[in-house]
Amino acid sequence: MDSGQQIFPYTFAVTKLDRQTLHGHKSCILWFTGLSGSGKSTIANEVETILYNKGISTFILDGDHLRNGLTRGLGFSEQDREEHIRRAGEAAKLLMESGILVLATFISPSGKSREAIRKSVEKEEFIEIYVQCSLEKCEQRDPKGLYMKARKGEIREFTGISAPYDPPQNPDLVLDTEFYSPEACARQVIQLLSDYGYI
Ligand code: ADX
Repeated sequence: MDSGQQIFPYTFAVTKLDRQTLHGHKSCILWFTGLSGSGKSTIANEVETILYNKGISTFILDGDHLRNGLTRGLGFSEQDREEHIRRAGEAAKLLMESGILVLATFISPSGKSREAIRKSVEKEEFIEIYVQCSLEKCEQRDPKGLYMKARKGEIREFTGISAPYDPPQNPDLVLDTEFYSPEACARQVIQLLSDYGYI
């Protein structure tokens, strides 16, 4: 029921900039998008380890993790993925407001959903990273055995097989995981963060 939305957000004294100053670096959302098995979590893990060792405050928001909690109960229909990604985006924004560097790893197949998050933050706060890998290669890797199940029809609406994936039209960075190792891809992300003055 709509309660009339009698909501009046309080303006708190400590700002995002204050929190960033406390951490000693800017905050932003690194949004990794790509097919299942493309390498999103592996690369984010590498990037976070490097950043941690440099004394940078980070947090990883990962699809499989969120689906165990914040978005539990949501499936893989278009509508459920839209709500899952909307909540993931909101969580990423809250963490970013806290002054840290957020690494978000979601297939996030809908270009519209990704754009909605980009538009809801400052221009430089959303960095879209396309973790690019052919369907053939992802299927060959099949780390969770899910492509096999999807091909047999045991999993419905599987991204790339029976559900669509919109590749980013204008990503800030493309990581080709068919040709580059996770370490090399992580170095590209660190280079971008350094080139643009985030770290
Ligand atoms: S998203 O499409 O809603 O962004 P998300 O990144 O959270 O997906 O979760 C993807 C993970 O869920 C996959 O890596 C895989 O382990 C699992 N999964 C289970 N069913 C599906 C499905 N139908 N399509 C894609 N991934 C699935």
